[in-house]
Amino acid sequence: MSSFKDLRIVDNFYQTSLFFPMPVVLVSTLTEDGKTTCGPYSLVQPFYIAGKDYYAMMLCCRNSSNTAQNLIARKKCVINFLPDDRKTFKEIVRLGWPGDTPDEKMKDFKFDFEPGLRAEADPKGTYPLVIKQAFQAMECTWVDTLENCENTPLLKEGEDHYVQDSYHDFNGITSPYGAHFVLRVDKILMKDKYYNAIINGVKGRDFPPCPVDYGYRDSKNFWYHKHRRMIPELLPVRATTVASVRYAADRIDPSIKFTDDACEKIVNVPRIFLPTVLKGCIKWAKENNVTTITAKEMDIINDKRSKEKKK
Ligand SMILES: Cc1cc2nc3c(=O)[nH]c(=O)nc-3n(C[C@H](O)[C@H](O)[C@H](O)COP(=O)(O)O)c2cc1C
Repeated sequence: MSSFKDLRIVDNFYQTSLFFPMPVVLVSTLTEDGKTTCGPYSLVQPFYIAGKDYYAMMLCCRNSSNTAQNLIARKKCVINFLPDDRKTFKEIVRLGWPGDTPDEKMKDFKFDFEPGLRAEADPKGTYPLVIKQAFQAMECTWVDTLENCENTPLLKEGEDHYVQDSYHDFNGITSPYGAHFVLRVDKILMKDKYYNAIINGVKGRDFPPCPVDYGYRDSKNFWYHKHRRMIPELLPVRATTVASVRYAADRIDPSIKFTDDACEKIVNVPRIFLPTVLKGCIKWAKENNVTTITAKEMDIINDKRSKEKKK
């Protein structure tokens, strides 16, 4: 017998029927007259993370919101991650009141703006501003070519949702009240302190204080979790053997040999990634007229790989 109760799945199940940890961000977009306006969002997560021509986030959003309408019209946004403190969160929740116009909400805006890196690189272009108090931000563009969203109409004055014969699956207008936006990541902006930590090695104290929204809300309160101390959990170490690395290597290309000390260098690579790593080594060997890969060649390959990653 299950140790769980069966909870009914209803609209907005992540808020009504679950405790679902999520980030809290302010999304900046451009209004028709070129001003920046901000709306709070939690349903925002990495979408394309590797193996595509670009990286992308997914934002799930009420389609009548200022953010959705601005994205449909002007495509660009900034996802601002703000640090955790009570005053900041209060302001974030204030900006979440549905139906307020950008002028109404932005006249008492408590944060400061600055131009992003895209505006710096393209002074003639118009880009939404970045919130100065954010510890990191992502400048993004809506990929409206996915699911043919190029001609998505805007809502007319007084309309609060879309009425269509059919709705899209994952990009654009996805239901009468809903929208999804695949957002190409154009730039990641990071404050000095966290930039240095990522480049030089992150320790427990280097994590930014992020508020975590737990999904669940009631009619009175929006609940969130304050940032606490970070606790490291050691990754599992599951080394394979030199023999199993050699077995895989010999089957990919017998014309390139691996010495034992070369195989030893990659015993920590999980088995599922071994063929990709070995193919990379073999490709390098062929390009450099090497027929036997020793530990020395492995070090050269690893060095090249880490330099490429840093780039
Ligand atoms: C912390 C927080 C997180 C929110 N997350 C979402 C979300 O992920 N998707 C959404 O449609 N609305 C979300 N809302 C509600 C929107 O903020 C609300 O619809 C607001 O009116 C949007 O502002 P805008 O019209 O300026 O875009 C959230 C509100 C708060 C306070």
